[in-house]
Amino acid sequence: MASVSMTTMENAELTAERNSFAPNLINRAQLFSEVDEDLKEIRIKELIETILTLLDARDPYTLDHSLRVTQIAALIARDMKLNPVQIKNIITAAYMHDIGKVGIPDRVLNKAGRLDKEERRFMQEHPRIGYNVLVKLPFLKSIADIVLSHHERWDGMGYPNGMQGTEIPLESRIIAVADAFDAITSDRPYRKGQSIEYGIDEIYRHSGDQFDPQVVDHFLNSCNQLPAAIDILVSENNSCAFAGHNDLMHSRRLL
Ligand SMILES: [Fe+2]
Repeated sequence: MASVSMTTMENAELTAERNSFAPNLINRAQLFSEVDEDLKEIRIKELIETILTLLDARDPYTLDHSLRVTQIAALIARDMKLNPVQIKNIITAAYMHDIGKVGIPDRVLNKAGRLDKEERRFMQEHPRIGYNVLVKLPFLKSIADIVLSHHERWDGMGYPNGMQGTEIPLESRIIAVADAFDAITSDRPYRKGQSIEYGIDEIYRHSGDQFDPQVVDHFLNSCNQLPAAIDILVSENNSCAFAGHNDLMHSRRLL
């Protein structure tokens, strides 16, 4: 009897110990998985920085452009109230949307003038080159898909696959608007950048053909925040003039 009683007591103690230990195990497992996530985040950030440094060495304009596109795309995504994962993916993809330009010949990439037909064909390969680089990393697969489609158009006239409307990932449609706005408003070797007001007008004008109308609506909503988000664009003569766009707001075709 005594030994049975001891066994019972031991079992009870073991059970109690196990019960107190199990939550610890769970907590530790959670902790490790959080640490692992943090490490993964750090690795992704380091990788992005490495890739962008490489791109900067080839084409300093593209890095500055990518930083501004990221700010603008994030503004639109937040105005659309997308979930945190989508916003994070948009930010990561916007940073790297032109990474494929590392594979474009120097004579095309750094040409101080308009591209001819053949050169444009080369340049239009950059979304696919970027995709081929990023898709090799399993944790960047979703980013690779966004990068591949950032030059698709809402009307199906874009490249590389001629996707149309909502076939195009939403994240790519957002980056397309931010990308075009920055391309219009920033200086290039062969032309001066247009004003922010002009850039906004152009985006609005191409709502429904080049751009997703819903994304354009959210871009217009965010426009007052553009100068703060991309202060690199703000100069004394180039402040956001969205207040002057009230008429535009009222006459928007797609509201
Ligand atoms: Fe691009």
